[in-house]
Amino acid sequence: MERTLIIAKPDAVQRGLVGEIISRLERKGLKLIGLKMSRLDEAMLKTHYAEHIEKSFYKGLEQFMQSSPVVLMAWEGFECVDSVRTLVGVTNPRQAVAGSIRGDLAIGAGRNLIHASDSKESGISEVDFFFDAKELFDYEKSEYLNLYEDHERQ
Ligand code: RTP
Ligand code: MG
Repeated sequence: MERTLIIAKPDAVQRGLVGEIISRLERKGLKLIGLKMSRLDEAMLKTHYAEHIEKSFYKGLEQFMQSSPVVLMAWEGFECVDSVRTLVGVTNPRQAVAGSIRGDLAIGAGRNLIHASDSKESGISEVDFFFDAKELFDYEKSEYLNLYEDHERQ
């Protein structure tokens, strides 16, 4: 099964929307396999957002991401990376469709509540980067019988 890293960003923590975000992902049928609150430092952010370091918004992004603790989550599910990106909505919340997390709950491009891995490979590497093996949990989710066909559950 695919994995995806979710960060409830400082605006989600400050606005009390962490529970709402968790609830939406739970209701989709995803399995929570890791969860912790953390302060991200400059070095972690430089690694996580390496593709953006040279961009004009990076300094502001780096400051914002350190402005408060964040909540890190690892989720698992069949082809979950793409379905979570759909649930999250596009980067600019003003263009994100109604029904998505950003479309429903955010308005500013740099205050879009949530990070979600953007590929199967980044899902694996980002979960590995933010979580130690002992912080990740392998367990049976009984509702899978009602969520997936047999071939999707492998
Ligand atoms: P994320 O990485 O946080 O999941 O968001 P994303 O894939 O939808 O967007 P990405 O292009 O990777 O940008 C990373 C984060 O940088 C901030 N940003 N600000 N002011 C701007 O023009 C701008 N562009 C991007 C956002 O917080 C975005 O989520
Ligand atoms: Mg991104």
